Amino acid sequence: MPSLLRLVLPALAAVSTAYAASCTVSATTTIQNAGDATGLASCSTFSGSIAIATGTTDDIALDGIKKLSGNLIATNNANMKRLSAANLETLDGEMRLDGLTRLYGVDFPKLKNIDSIKWNALPNLQTIGFTAEVEQAKKLDIQNTGLRSLKGINIEEVKTLFIANNGYINEFSMQLGNVSDSLTLADNNVNVKVELPNLIWATNLTFRFCGSVSVPSLKTLNGSLGLYNNGFESFSAPNLTSVGEALAIVANDKLSNITFPMLTKITDNLQIANNSQLAEIQAFPELKSIGGAFDISGNESKVETPKLESVKGAFNLQSTDNITEACDFYKSLQQKKWLQGKYFCRGKVEDPGTAGHTPKDQSGSSKKSAATSLSAVNGALGLAAMAAVLLL
Ligand SMILES: *[C@@H]1O[C@H](CO)[C@@H](O)[C@H](O)[C@H]1NC(C)=O
Ligand SMILES: *[C@@H]1O[C@H](CO)[C@@H](O)[C@H](O)[C@H]1NC(C)=O
Ligand SMILES: *[C@@H]1O[C@H](CO)[C@@H](O)[C@H](O)[C@H]1NC(C)=O
Ligand SMILES: *[C@@H]1O[C@H](CO)[C@@H](O)[C@H](O)[C@H]1NC(C)=O
Ligand SMILES: *[C@@H]1O[C@H](CO)[C@@H](O)[C@H](O)[C@H]1NC(C)=O
Ligand SMILES: *[C@@H]1O[C@H](CO)[C@@H](O)[C@H](O)[C@H]1NC(C)=O
Ligand SMILES: *[C@@H]1O[C@H](CO)[C@@H](O)[C@H](O)[C@H]1NC(C)=O
Ligand SMILES: *[C@@H]1O[C@H](CO)[C@@H](O)[C@H](O)[C@H]1NC(C)=O
Repeated sequence: MPSLLRLVLPALAAVSTAYAASCTVSATTTIQNAGDATGLASCSTFSGSIAIATGTTDDIALDGIKKLSGNLIATNNANMKRLSAANLETLDGEMRLDGLTRLYGVDFPKLKNIDSIKWNALPNLQTIGFTAEVEQAKKLDIQNTGLRSLKGINIEEVKTLFIANNGYINEFSMQLGNVSDSLTLADNNVNVKVELPNLIWATNLTFRFCGSVSVPSLKTLNGSLGLYNNGFESFSAPNLTSVGEALAIVANDKLSNITFPMLTKITDNLQIANNSQLAEIQAFPELKSIGGAFDISGNESKVETPKLESVKGAFNLQSTDNITEACDFYKSLQQKKWLQGKYFCRGKVEDPGTAGHTPKDQSGSSKKSAATSLSAVNGALGLAAMAAVLLL
């Protein structure tokens, strides 16, 4: 760390009015103690970033500032307990709090607009003191905190939202209408109840280790939907009509019922694997086309996609159960040349796997000339993308 600049108010290029000042600094202003913070109180608009020194032990109150055009940063400070700004309404920059192991209070009662929030390693922070509720933020990245909920943040649109490894968050509910890049909820409290009643479109949505997920209004996904390791028994996307990239439903141990009643098109891969309780897949009554691979493996006894008429990538269906009926149906589609990539369909296998995997028969022997790797247009690429989603 470079040596910290000590704040000297006269050095600020200040433009005073009778009531409030606009203060502009080019470098980052570093605050060492409560007195330094009080020294900024006359700046109702502060242009420049504010950093809190690592050794600060005082509570820091940035009162007086209404608008901060810059970042507010506090990192690697084991002693600081509270950070507040009684008058701050707008923060045109990032609020970065990282490695503040004792911090328990973040009180910004008037804050409504913020460019981005990046919080990490705040184990003692249980609540967000944004009393007025932040209603605009482009990016939220909150990891490894002691937060119980995100109450205080209720935004209507977002670019990226990444909430991970917050072991106590058991509720996530927002008025979000759209997500222009991605929303990821991963490895929080396994019982976390996710409710996005107004979400209409998003690019990527990833849910990992969630207790329940509700997206009743979701209509379009410009990117992918990934459901991994979740604890719910059923998942439904009642209004979803198209998926711009892939749909992946993997390793949800209790999942027994999925429904996508309006879904007609998946532009890239459909992958369903390792959902041990998912016996019947009748989730896609309207699905007509898959631009990548059709890749379903597991313990299915029934798989039905009555309207399917085009799969551009590989077709792979492997199950521990008897799927003769499904294989007969898909064989007929293949004969009509509606399934354009490599074709593999087999039931009663011991170790069902994804496209490219050659399963063992339940008798134990491996049959030859089994699945081949994805060949067609988007197939291989799509799976690579899927792996990326898997790895987060
Ligand atoms: C995103 O959602 C918000 C809130 O629902 C809405 O006001 C806005 O028009 C939406 N933007 C787009 C591009 O759909
Ligand atoms: C995603 O799709 C929605 C609805 O089709 C559209 O309004 C929006 O502009 C698209 N967003 C991006 C980032 O492409
Ligand atoms: C969406 O996810 C895909 C697959 O992981 C990735 O390639 C793409 O860049 C993501 N798009 C956005 C806007 O995050
Ligand atoms: C589902 O979509 C229809 C048609 O676009 C719309 O009228 C309805 O309100 C949507 N349902 C929900 C719960 O958003
Ligand atoms: C599956 O879920 C759908 C939608 O949530 C519901 O209507 C249906 O009754 C469920 N089916 C079973 C067998 O539980
Ligand atoms: C399914 O589980 C098997 C065995 O644990 C694993 O090898 C495979 O990679 C999993 N499939 C997916 C798509 O994650
Ligand atoms: C099939 O079900 C059994 C028993 O529930 C489970 O152990 C196994 O992992 C499941 N296999 C797949 C591929 O989901
Ligand atoms: C699988 O089910 C079909 C009927 O759908 C039946 O004719 C066939 O004998 C069954 N195969 C095995 C190995 O149980």
